Amino acid sequence: MNLPIRPISEAEWPAFVAVLEEAFASTFHPVQVERFKALTPFNRTLAAFDGDLPVGVTAIFDFDMTLPGGARLPVAGVTAVGVLPSHRRRGILNGLMRKQLNDIKEHGESIAVLYASEAGIYGRFGYGRAADSVFYRIPRHGSAFVKNAPTDPSLRLRTALPAQARAEFEQVFDAISGSRPGIYTRSPARWDSLLADEEFDRGDDGRLRCMLAEDDGGVRGYALFKIKRSFTDHDVFDGEVRLIELFAVDPAAYAALWRSVLDRDLCSRVYAWNRPVDDPITHLLAEPRHLNAGTLDELWARVVDLPAALVARAYAAPAEVVIEIAEDDVCPWNEGRWRLATAKGTCERTEDEPDLTLPIQVLGAAYFGGRPLTTYADAGLVTEHRPGALLELSTAMAWDPKPWAGLVF
Ligand SMILES: CC(C)(COP(=O)(O)OP(=O)(O)OC[C@H]1O[C@@H](n2cnc3c(N)ncnc32)[C@H](O)[C@@H]1OP(=O)(O)O)[C@@H](O)C(=O)NCCC(=O)NCCS
Repeated sequence: MNLPIRPISEAEWPAFVAVLEEAFASTFHPVQVERFKALTPFNRTLAAFDGDLPVGVTAIFDFDMTLPGGARLPVAGVTAVGVLPSHRRRGILNGLMRKQLNDIKEHGESIAVLYASEAGIYGRFGYGRAADSVFYRIPRHGSAFVKNAPTDPSLRLRTALPAQARAEFEQVFDAISGSRPGIYTRSPARWDSLLADEEFDRGDDGRLRCMLAEDDGGVRGYALFKIKRSFTDHDVFDGEVRLIELFAVDPAAYAALWRSVLDRDLCSRVYAWNRPVDDPITHLLAEPRHLNAGTLDELWARVVDLPAALVARAYAAPAEVVIEIAEDDVCPWNEGRWRLATAKGTCERTEDEPDLTLPIQVLGAAYFGGRPLTTYADAGLVTEHRPGALLELSTAMAWDPKPWAGLVF
């Protein structure tokens, strides 16, 4: 479908939101629409128009994302992707994604990232599954910690209203945000949206709650959560703590905050739905089977400007390899052979024979350090031409801790 695609004007904002309300079967409160507007740069929206009407939309949030090694890179956070049900499967998403990736290149970002509503959508546009998240449902009766779990008598827990603890949340978040690839900077509007707690934000889980861990020197961590109040058939309290996020600057504060939600009176379990795959809680539970863990794809990443992206991150070991991207029809400027020399910090076009041939999606998946290239070779998706090159690049690109963005955008 060959419809004109362009950014929307402010006057077209209600029609842009109307597409998303239909596409996601959502009903937004006007206040939520205003919050979303505060987050959205209009010049980075796109809509496909059928006459005067937007029928397919997308937008970009710009923020800085932590890379392996701790540098923060400006990235394009792709969001608000939707096509009206009346216009689906006619190529509108395809047109939007291609135009958007061209715009991102022109804007100077070398990486695009997104959260996908369905994992099958974005591979065709060159995105790779770069990070996973884990969800747990931990029953209170199975939540005992190992005997040597850290404790610190100087730590105190404090209940507060989240809106009044925002400065402390920001302080903890700023302290940890450089430590894990994938975590991205939060604008004031992003914090507003995370801490939004009007009646219409609450759903069935009641109001937003928090616990702070602190000592005489100040805050050391926080847990942000809701509590779904419920009862068994015999009228026994059976509440569920629904953990939204938990960050701490040290292991004792981390353990104390987890204990505070696991031991919450009148609650039978903690449901934590977006945790990193290497979450230390997995080592603290004496019986980790009670984590009842499951995994989902989290962040998707797309290499938009290959040499710029590859020199921006740090590597876990030195590597010098010629990478071949045989085909990238969405971002054809990435095609060809590239010599990455991590010790020199260079990535340059070359005509030399390739050491490895890999799809652009696999490079995106490996970019933040969470996906060993070796496993893609086992799947037959990466071809090694020089023996040893696969392990060399796979080892160099792997990173600890594992990537995780932590907050859906
Ligand atoms: C997902 C959505 C944006 C697709 O829009 P669309 O205009 O129908 O997509 P297109 O016609 O451009 O399809 C492009 C390609 O993607 C495929 N595709 C589209 N939606 C897909 C899906 N949900 N799962 C897998 N493949 C999908 C199409 O089959 C087509 O494949 P092809 O290139 O092999 O022919 C639209 O269905 C939608 O708005 N869904 C609900 C909201 C949503 O999930 N948005 C994504 C948020 S991350």
